[in-house]
Amino acid sequence: MALLDLIRKRRSIRRFLDRPVERDKIMMCLEAARLAPSACNSQPWKFIVVDDGETRNRLCHTAFGGVYSISSFARKAPIIVAIVSEKDKFIARVGALLRGTRYYLIDIGIAGEHFVLQAEELGLGTCWIGWFNEGAVKSVLGVPKDKKIDVLLAVGYPDKEGRGLRHDREPLEKMAGFNGYEGEAE
Ligand SMILES: Cc1cc2nc3c(=O)[nH]c(=O)nc-3n(C[C@H](O)[C@H](O)[C@H](O)COP(=O)(O)O)c2cc1C
Repeated sequence: MALLDLIRKRRSIRRFLDRPVERDKIMMCLEAARLAPSACNSQPWKFIVVDDGETRNRLCHTAFGGVYSISSFARKAPIIVAIVSEKDKFIARVGALLRGTRYYLIDIGIAGEHFVLQAEELGLGTCWIGWFNEGAVKSVLGVPKDKKIDVLLAVGYPDKEGRGLRHDREPLEKMAGFNGYEGEAE
């Protein structure tokens, strides 16, 4: 499928079929993430794929409870991927300080979306999850406390019933322009 068609087809998926996901498909998604660009080629990420039922249940039980229960749809996802932020290269950290830009978050976003688009191409559904109990995820996965997990991905075969929430987008003429800024000052 042409890339733009694939991008147009993708939706966040919040309902999944009770069908296991083949390990080789996940490996392809990880390879797509591995090849993502990053500031100073820092590659400041580690992807932890949770596909073992027992570990997934423990993680989902604690990560999506209480105030995080709005994300409890992810309990039905056969796979949860935790993206751990690793230290970026010294030069990227200096640049980040001088520019006031958190390059590592941009890097993680790109790598995660590479994963997502490859998953889409393989017929898998995904949803980014930013609202979860980070401490609980770290504890279940043995991630050191001083590391950061900014996002998770829920992955599985999509249940067609589960499509769509807030998928609308601003029109092209509002989000882009040529040769100068068009818009109001803040
Ligand atoms: C960084 C990030 C965090 C997100 N966190 C959540 C989340 O916690 N729960 C959720 O249901 N969707 C979450 N989403 C999905 C967005 O709600 C979704 O991408 C947006 O509404 C556009 O819909 P679409 O992905 O179907 O095009 C997140 C997306 C991104 C990129």
